[in-house]
Amino acid sequence: MSLAAGPGRGGGGAQGQLPEELQLVVEKHVAYIQSLDTRREELEYHLTEHLRISGIYWGLTALHLLGHPDALPREGVLDFVFICLHENGGFSPAPGHDPHMLYTLSAVQILAMVDGFGELEKKVPDGKTKVARYIASLQRANGTFAGDEWGETDTRFMYGALNALSLLGLLPQQQPDQPPMIDIPAAMAHVKACQNFDGGFGSEPGAESHSGQVFTCCGALSIAGEIDSYLGEAGKDRLGAWLSERQLPSGGLNGRPEKLVDVCYSWWVMSSMAMIDRLHWIDKGKLTAFILQCQDADEGGLADRPGDMVDVFHTVFGIAGLSLLGHPGLVEVDAA
Ligand code: FPP
Ligand code: ZN
Repeated sequence: MSLAAGPGRGGGGAQGQLPEELQLVVEKHVAYIQSLDTRREELEYHLTEHLRISGIYWGLTALHLLGHPDALPREGVLDFVFICLHENGGFSPAPGHDPHMLYTLSAVQILAMVDGFGELEKKVPDGKTKVARYIASLQRANGTFAGDEWGETDTRFMYGALNALSLLGLLPQQQPDQPPMIDIPAAMAHVKACQNFDGGFGSEPGAESHSGQVFTCCGALSIAGEIDSYLGEAGKDRLGAWLSERQLPSGGLNGRPEKLVDVCYSWWVMSSMAMIDRLHWIDKGKLTAFILQCQDADEGGLADRPGDMVDVFHTVFGIAGLSLLGHPGLVEVDAA
């Protein structure tokens, strides 16, 4: 995900056309995200420790989209990121936990967002390369990536590897004069083997299509510059049809057939549709109304479905979905 510099399409004024219960409560969402780190006495805070650094990435991304990028203290964010950095170049979700690809991705995404790579290099000589070496060490002979040294593989980790290396500027195509740190052709062969006859992608070859995995596989193909040549217009039509079938009568999207709608699929499904130029196959008005109904209009934050408890994961992906829909008052997200 990257963020365009200017205000969202349509500017801030057009919200007035929506009924009051469907207003985006920007200030409430900002206050909710700012409050998350102050709730240390709550059980929820401790139950989510295993993904703390990702929580900071989600909160920070939501704040950028809401037009309040400085609402969390930069120094505090950087201090936390650096205490999660391990000797081997990987990042853990919090101090005292093991490093993992997904938390290394979150750390790199945060550093990119706060312009913190300079501080990384000051902290650790050749720090960017050290992090990239950790990521590269997790690639397996068949092209795929493990999440950590224990070896579970999944296309999420491949996407994480390619995204983080691209943010570090250390993908093979970004430094053509250096020996490649990872084997891109093998990675691409593996992604392609994860595609199913319905046009979607699964977590490994033969696994059921799932919108989350469609996002990771399209993201990996896109970062490697192969999505257009691999899918072609016919492949995009087939995948676009499967993705557009994720929209149910409530306006919300599910992740695969016969499953419940969930606001986070607004991002996984729609960003995939944007990557294949099929975003216009969604009923934007109905999806906008569904996402706005997932807000806690009093306390801020978004939930997976209307009336459920809010959390920062659904808050960012709901807001990112609204941004892709061109909702007024949000910074525009560029999924391509
Ligand atoms: C639920 O699956 C899973 C999600 C809601 C997340 C899906 C997103 C991804 C796999 C992409 C993650 C990307 C990164 C970079 C980590 P489920 O089987 O429990 O839910 P379902 O019932 O909705 O199918
Ligand atoms: Zn969800």
